[in-house]
Amino acid sequence: MIRRADQALAQALPSEQLPPEPLHRAMRYAVLGGGKRLRPLLVYAAGAALGEHGPALDPPACAVELIHAYSLVHDDLPAMDDDALRRGRPTCHIVFGEAMAILAGDALQALAFELLANAPIHTNSLDMLRVLGRACGAEGMAGGQALDLAAVGRKLELHELEHMHACKTGALIRASVRLGALAAGADATTLDALERYAHAVGLAFQVRDDILDVEGESAVIGKTAGKDAAADKPTFPSIIGLGASRARLDELICDALVAIEPLGDRAALLAELARYAAARHH
Ligand code: IPE
Ligand code: IPE
Ligand code: MG
Ligand code: MG
Ligand code: MG
Repeated sequence: MIRRADQALAQALPSEQLPPEPLHRAMRYAVLGGGKRLRPLLVYAAGAALGEHGPALDPPACAVELIHAYSLVHDDLPAMDDDALRRGRPTCHIVFGEAMAILAGDALQALAFELLANAPIHTNSLDMLRVLGRACGAEGMAGGQALDLAAVGRKLELHELEHMHACKTGALIRASVRLGALAAGADATTLDALERYAHAVGLAFQVRDDILDVEGESAVIGKTAGKDAAADKPTFPSIIGLGASRARLDELICDALVAIEPLGDRAALLAELARYAAARHH
């Protein structure tokens, strides 16, 4: 399934041979050749839980990864986290310059919506566009990133930290699951169960990210370790400690697994991804 996402992405991205070449190169660099592809996998897994395995899942799977890749390019910019290492390689702005990295992010975001809008129309098509728009906007990822930057050097309450995480990382993860479910024509009850699952997995994913920033090594996580503490970012470990962060992680994964119990065996991949989000080492 990772290969399926990689192939669909490589096909969706503009060719490096076509002008403007530097922009196309920066876009392809930001998306291809690395990344765990968790968000596309969640699209495929949510679809599979509802019996959908076909090509209808490819546009939403690519769209969420394109948005994610754009968010990483901008997150690494000097004006944001000022990071030089991503997916084990120099960040996009280090290779292509800041202006091209900003434009690559912009163009990746636009391409995500174009892809989704180009997919064959069905009853949930408009809802899917709405879900993606909401997840990247001021009430989703971009809003969460704004909360993250505003929180530098401040000591957030736990509920504020959870809200920030739910926006900056959780929103796109929730959208991934919902898009897969909508592409598969899910009913309202199933959408509710999957929403509870995705909320827990989204938060767990960022809790794990915060823990890895403390415990991980740059060579393994593929990005600069210890960056959060150096930049004085509020994180789970900095607010409740490493032990309590791990306990919260266990609790969240338990919530996620309980939420998808009604779906039975068909949700096996969703269950596997929930466990992976909490146990991953990079
Ligand atoms: C990193 O996301 C940024 C966060 C939202 C925590 P991933 O850990 O999914 O990054 P890649 O795609 O695998 O590089
Ligand atoms: C990034 O969170 C979240 C988004 C890109 C939306 P982080 O700043 O913690 O991600 P890393 O640690 O740089 O991957
Ligand atoms: Mg950041
Ligand atoms: Mg960062
Ligand atoms: Mg991080």
